[in-house]
Amino acid sequence: MCSMNLNTQTWALPAARTRYNLEMPGEITIRQYQDSDQASVAKLWTTVFPDDPPWNSPSELIGRKQKAQPELFWIAQQDGEIVGTILAGYDGVRGWIYHLAVDPAQRRKGTARLLMQTAEASLEALGCPKINLQVRLYNRAAVAFYQALGYGIEERVQMGKPIGKFRRS
Ligand SMILES: CC(C)(COP(=O)(O)OP(=O)(O)OC[C@H]1O[C@@H](n2cnc3c(N)ncnc32)[C@H](O)[C@@H]1OP(=O)(O)O)[C@@H](O)C(=O)NCCC(=O)NCCS
Repeated sequence: MCSMNLNTQTWALPAARTRYNLEMPGEITIRQYQDSDQASVAKLWTTVFPDDPPWNSPSELIGRKQKAQPELFWIAQQDGEIVGTILAGYDGVRGWIYHLAVDPAQRRKGTARLLMQTAEASLEALGCPKINLQVRLYNRAAVAFYQALGYGIEERVQMGKPIGKFRRS
């Protein structure tokens, strides 16, 4: 479990205290997603990603993630409230990060940095050589955040096509 001190605040807990929900006031804890988190996560995502496409609706996305590397889905919790999320995936070629979200009222406290540290450490442990992620063109805050963590802008064109029940006729 990663742990760091910032402005005399402790930002992560030993695993046992986390498991038994023995948080210190104000502490940010990173733990794996569990079923009972669904409603809170859906509320956070609806606030943070209001114009997500239908294939990213909370119930769709959480349902799929529960079937594909569910262990790579973490939440950040503070004072019993869910304040952040991150999903990761590794397909043997690249690692990917999805749905990094922090409650707007809780930003600039290091929550996303902790979530990214957790995801990066897990992807690295799986042998992943490189992490990719997508940021919408005008999302300057996210670009600044990822650059602060050492991510570079790469000259690529992102292409995509919905398939299955989301296929466009
Ligand atoms: C991007 C986001 C996840 C950052 O969350 P956060 O918890 O506020 O980030 P942190 O506190 O861990 O920030 C770490 C560092 O990143 C940089 N950073 C974070 N937000 C920034 C912003 N709005 N502008 C400039 N730099 C920023 C800073 O260097 C910051 O360190 P500092 O506060 O000591 O200066 C959050 O703004 C968010 O949820 N945005 C909406 C969803 C989104 O865009 N997700 C990512 C793309 S899918």
